[in-house]
Amino acid sequence: MSVAALPRSPLPEDKAQLLSRLTDGLDPGALWWLSGYAAGLARGGVSGTDAGAVSSAQAAAEAQDAARLTILYGSQTGNARRVAENLARRAEAAGLDVRLARADAYPLRELAKERLLYVVISTQGDGDPPDDARGFVEFLAGRRAPRLEALSFAVLGLGDSSYPQFCATGRRLDARLAELGARRLFGFGEADLDVDATAVPWMQRALAHARERLKPPLPPAKVTLLRPRVDAAAWSAARPFTAGVLVNQRITADDSAKDVRHLELDLAGSGLDYEPGDALGVLPRNPSPLVEAVLETLWLDGDAEIAHAGETHTLREWLTTKRELTRLARPFVAALAARCGDGALRALLQPGQSEALRQLLETSQPVDLLQRYPAEWSGEALVAALRPLAPRLYSIASSRAAVGDEAHLTVAHVEYATDTGVRWGAASHWLATRAEGETVEVYLERNERFRLPADPDRDIIMVGPGTGVAPFRAFVQQRRESGARGRNWLFFGNPHFRSDFLYQLEWQAALKDGSLARLDVAFSRDFAGSPHMDVRGVAQDARKKTYVQQRLRESGRELFGWLENGAYLYVCGATAMARRVEDTLRDVIVEHGGRSIEAAGEYIAKLRDEHRYARDVY
Ligand SMILES: Cc1cc2nc3c(=O)[nH]c(=O)nc-3n(C[C@H](O)[C@H](O)[C@H](O)COP(=O)(O)OP(=O)(O)OC[C@H]3O[C@@H](n4cnc5c(N)ncnc54)[C@H](O)[C@@H]3O)c2cc1C
Ligand SMILES: Cc1cc2nc3c(=O)[nH]c(=O)nc-3n(C[C@H](O)[C@H](O)[C@H](O)COP(=O)(O)O)c2cc1C
Repeated sequence: MSVAALPRSPLPEDKAQLLSRLTDGLDPGALWWLSGYAAGLARGGVSGTDAGAVSSAQAAAEAQDAARLTILYGSQTGNARRVAENLARRAEAAGLDVRLARADAYPLRELAKERLLYVVISTQGDGDPPDDARGFVEFLAGRRAPRLEALSFAVLGLGDSSYPQFCATGRRLDARLAELGARRLFGFGEADLDVDATAVPWMQRALAHARERLKPPLPPAKVTLLRPRVDAAAWSAARPFTAGVLVNQRITADDSAKDVRHLELDLAGSGLDYEPGDALGVLPRNPSPLVEAVLETLWLDGDAEIAHAGETHTLREWLTTKRELTRLARPFVAALAARCGDGALRALLQPGQSEALRQLLETSQPVDLLQRYPAEWSGEALVAALRPLAPRLYSIASSRAAVGDEAHLTVAHVEYATDTGVRWGAASHWLATRAEGETVEVYLERNERFRLPADPDRDIIMVGPGTGVAPFRAFVQQRRESGARGRNWLFFGNPHFRSDFLYQLEWQAALKDGSLARLDVAFSRDFAGSPHMDVRGVAQDARKKTYVQQRLRESGRELFGWLENGAYLYVCGATAMARRVEDTLRDVIVEHGGRSIEAAGEYIAKLRDEHRYARDVY
């Protein structure tokens, strides 16, 4: 947390600078102690020996705990954060004393003192918590979790009903808080990708309960932020910026199984001042052959006007820009099963069938099911059964210091064949097929958890196979432009050296000019001798199938040395890869750090707490 980020400081410049120096680098525990100390001073109490003043300050602090609402959030891509911030703003406007904290900035020992707690948390991976809430969730699940009889709470889970483990993290947390003796104020909220449909009524209930319990004093209290304040972005999913496509270039060879695109977008006039680590949200349009296939399958008129939830558009417009047609989700399967009455489809929705359901959700699109299970549909019923079309995020692969008013993306085109034809991913196909001169609608999604070290002398280790390499192109550009002296080490992997080495020439140039100290590559399907570049960029042979985690293991001693020396570690790309990389990291710490498995886990947790280990996985 930096002082510069605090809202409207009442301090004179010299004091503000002093405070900035004092708080720089303090952990959340120390910052909390400091805030308590200042509160004691404000109450005219605390001095080193004045026990009476301390106990009156304590009593005041306890009274304050009882009269305060704490809102915690765990968020990977910003949705839960936005809901939590929104709730905090409303609570503040209602005159409540409210404290808003990202879960990893929350001092866990405070939990036993809380009286009213709201948690807004998403689910990631395969039912995993978001990275910023891993410590909090593990603490609550563990034996050290305190009894919480004095606490009242409510939990809002965010998720995506196309995953079988829908909102699993929030649900587990909700159950655990009750198990620890806390009182559930109202039932667990489950928000799907159309987050606001559930979050808005949930917030209204939460606010009503908070008002009732805390009976706001006047004048209104202030929100205490336990995370850096981020300026409200001018552009959002609801109000995107229209960016011109400057370049759309395939960067895998024509004979590669993967079609990966390098896109350069023109942000001039947007005022979007992204930082390395941030992502762009892209508003896709569904492929028109898919829209027509749905209309034909159901014998529906694409020009018919359909009114739904206060909006009227033609059915074709609904299906092209407003409804998910590429991702299948459980509620649609349930709606179809109810409509066609098919027993096998119904059976899939029963508890205990989650593996079969997962298979179906991962490999089919709504049109596949509509063709397989014929049923009567009206345009209205179809629009109501399909989920709203959600934006997709793409890591920004450039640094503004290097490219000015542009943002570069590295996009893997999702394209695969089925018995009934080619299928595409909505956003990657939309982006892959935009010609230079055409436009796409975008907004900025900040990612405060995924930042270069503030200290330019620190080393960084980047693990980014496939399109996971995108943010590291931004990192390396930024460190080159800013003249950072810390070393940069990149691990990259993909199937084939010859056809899939994304940005190969740029990495070789970076090795030459020193902006990469080291590059280790793993080409998993080059069985007979996959090249591996050493510190000098010299290709070496490795005669077995390799993935980045094997490269990490092979370089375990150096890797551990870099970490011991204060390096930051970043991992970006597929969820399963990131899990294997973390397993390997644990092994490396055991082998080269001489620690037990448990201690290695703590070492990793400490890296995470110090923001020296960050992941961006999808
Ligand atoms: C923070 C973040 C950063 C990201 N950065 C990047 C990035 O830099 N580059 C990048 O390319 N992506 C990135 N992604 C992923 C990106 O957001 C999209 O999820 C991805 O591009 C797919 O979206 P889509 O709309 O094309 O496909 P969707 O329309 O979302 O999905 C298509 C559907 O097809 C199914 N499917 C896919 N392949 C097959 C197959 N072979 N057989 C059967 N079914 C299949 C899928 O299960 C899915 O249901 C990032 C994601 C996040 C969260
Ligand atoms: C890689 C990845 C994995 C996900 N896994 C799940 C999951 O297992 N269950 C679920 O309900 N949602 C899952 N989601 C969906 C997110 O929970 C959903 O997009 C949510 O709105 C994100 O909120 P956040 O931005 O606060 O993290 C996943 C999303 C991503 C990107």
